[in-house]
Amino acid sequence: MKHHLTDLFATVSGKVRPPVCVVLGPPWPVANLVKALGGVETVCYQMDLHQADRVRDCLAEVGAEAGVAVHPDPWDLDPRFETAIFPAAAQADRELKLDVVEQAYHILRPGGLFLSLSEYERDNQFAKWHKKVFGKCGETPAGEDGMAFWSTKTDAGKRRRHEVTFHAKLPDGQPMAFVSRPGTFSYGRFDTGARAMVEVAEVRKGDTILDLGCGNGAVGCLLSAKAGPRGRTTFIDSNLRAVALAELNAAANGVPNPQFLTSTRLEGLGRGAFDVILANPPYYAKSEITRLFVEGARDLLRPGGRYYLVTKMPTAVVPMIFETFGDCSVIENRGYAVVIAGGS
Ligand SMILES: C[S@@+](CC[C@H](N)C(=O)[O-])C[C@H]1O[C@@H](n2cnc3c(N)ncnc32)[C@H](O)[C@@H]1O
Repeated sequence: MKHHLTDLFATVSGKVRPPVCVVLGPPWPVANLVKALGGVETVCYQMDLHQADRVRDCLAEVGAEAGVAVHPDPWDLDPRFETAIFPAAAQADRELKLDVVEQAYHILRPGGLFLSLSEYERDNQFAKWHKKVFGKCGETPAGEDGMAFWSTKTDAGKRRRHEVTFHAKLPDGQPMAFVSRPGTFSYGRFDTGARAMVEVAEVRKGDTILDLGCGNGAVGCLLSAKAGPRGRTTFIDSNLRAVALAELNAAANGVPNPQFLTSTRLEGLGRGAFDVILANPPYYAKSEITRLFVEGARDLLRPGGRYYLVTKMPTAVVPMIFETFGDCSVIENRGYAVVIAGGS
């Protein structure tokens, strides 16, 4: 992919004027793109701290220089860019792509250029989205390196936020409303694995809860109701948009004593500080993040505290949890395995 995208970019690079913002995109294509830009002032936007670190590493490896900015939304950047480039990964969600087109509009100066690079040989989506947001769209012919689309910002334009609110409740609880946004896990719905976990988790009055890899915060918000007004819930995620959503959702649902952290290595969490830790690790990350969510959690749990991890792949995860905690049990719920450890 990285070479295809750079080859595609070469066909439209004459349109680029600095300063440039590279909006999202996978780390390697982003770094190669920055290199191809040939040293003009460039900022790479990411919404996840881990991805941002990888972009920095890839930039260093290809010997290219750019600032890396991490915010919940691209439009948190100053609207000072002459060019915004979106190197869209084919596997990126449709909703996220549309959201980037929308938000990139607001980081451009009037007259600024927005360029989308699609991996698809024949992309029939981007032109539609560019026209919706910018009015007009130019494009390269279909080709094996993908297709490029470009548009110019003409006026101030209104911000349109892409978000979906869904509702969820515990079997014996009140329904809560959750705002979700593209680019965060389980957009528009409560994940079935998360539901399976909250249904079996035991939370007592006054418990201190950790929602580990909180996404939009639904897990922590729902269980905070069981801990009551003396309870405390900490939400942590590496994705800044996720943590912004968790803040929004915790406030809207009246979560008592909430705390929010963005971090990639569980920094900032107190050792032995939590009565209950809940983790729904990403499926795609093989063992690295799961290991962090297991081994990192052990020291955070107070003696006698309860640890819950939900997974579709218990054979890979149970040995790790067993080794880390010395013991564990598994409850099958809704087609998922909820692994339970601690509690001694
Ligand atoms: C499968 S999602 C679960 C989200 C939410 N708990 C739920 O069940 O709907 C996993 C979450 O872990 C977060 N994550 C991935 N790596 C992380 C890390 N190193 N530190 C903190 N969070 C991380 C992702 O951004 C994502 O929001």
